[in-house]
Amino acid sequence: METKHIVLNVVFFGCFFLLQYVSGQTEPSYCFRFTWLGPEYDNTSTLLNTTCSEYLDDIRAVGVPCRTPFVVTYDGSPPDLDYLLDNYRDQVTCRRTKSQVCAKFTYSFNNEVQNATYMCTRAYTADRGYETGGCFKQRVDAHDVEVCLCESGRDPCNGASSFKISLVLITILACLKFVLI
Ligand SMILES: *[C@@H]1O[C@H](CO)[C@@H](O)[C@H](O)[C@H]1NC(C)=O
Ligand SMILES: *[C@@H]1O[C@H](CO)[C@@H](O)[C@H](O)[C@H]1NC(C)=O
Ligand SMILES: *[C@@H]1O[C@H](CO)[C@@H](O)[C@H](O)[C@H]1NC(C)=O
Repeated sequence: METKHIVLNVVFFGCFFLLQYVSGQTEPSYCFRFTWLGPEYDNTSTLLNTTCSEYLDDIRAVGVPCRTPFVVTYDGSPPDLDYLLDNYRDQVTCRRTKSQVCAKFTYSFNNEVQNATYMCTRAYTADRGYETGGCFKQRVDAHDVEVCLCESGRDPCNGASSFKISLVLITILACLKFVLI
């Protein structure tokens, strides 16, 4: 075998094992998991010490995404995710399994956010199959419902407004460049 081929093979298998190592996710992965009840609730609202099924029953909602704990803020503004992560990490995150993605569901009316639910979940669409990333929008009863999906590492990704480029993608690009030279 020519030296050139041996070198190429070494580079190829080096990249292969590096990819396996990076994508093997040696670190556990987490997503945010909670429901922000929206601007109608503030620190004067009675504390909701209840389950999603009781709550949805009370407001007569069916098939609406919901995850406890319920989060309300002093003035009804959206929650500070860094603050939640720093002070209540265990309560507001879930551990993501390999078949799951992080999801954020947002309900808006006339461009004002009404509430948001964060969770670990499996994502599937009939026309495209399993989904691992991106945002999808739909109008339901005059409300805009948006779901954004991503796959995170140790820090939840479903709070960011723009999703970070994953380490895996960077490695793939680096390897491709190497092989093409
Ligand atoms: C709610 O928060 C406001 C400040 O934003 C404070 O003045 C008020 O005392 C709080 N009310 C209760 C019931 O904690
Ligand atoms: C919430 O409910 C649980 C179980 O029913 C109870 O143990 C707990 O004391 C309640 N907390 C508050 C703040 O009401
Ligand atoms: C979020 O808002 C929508 C529209 O007002 C409502 O139908 C839904 O039940 C709400 N979800 C939660 C968890 O409160």
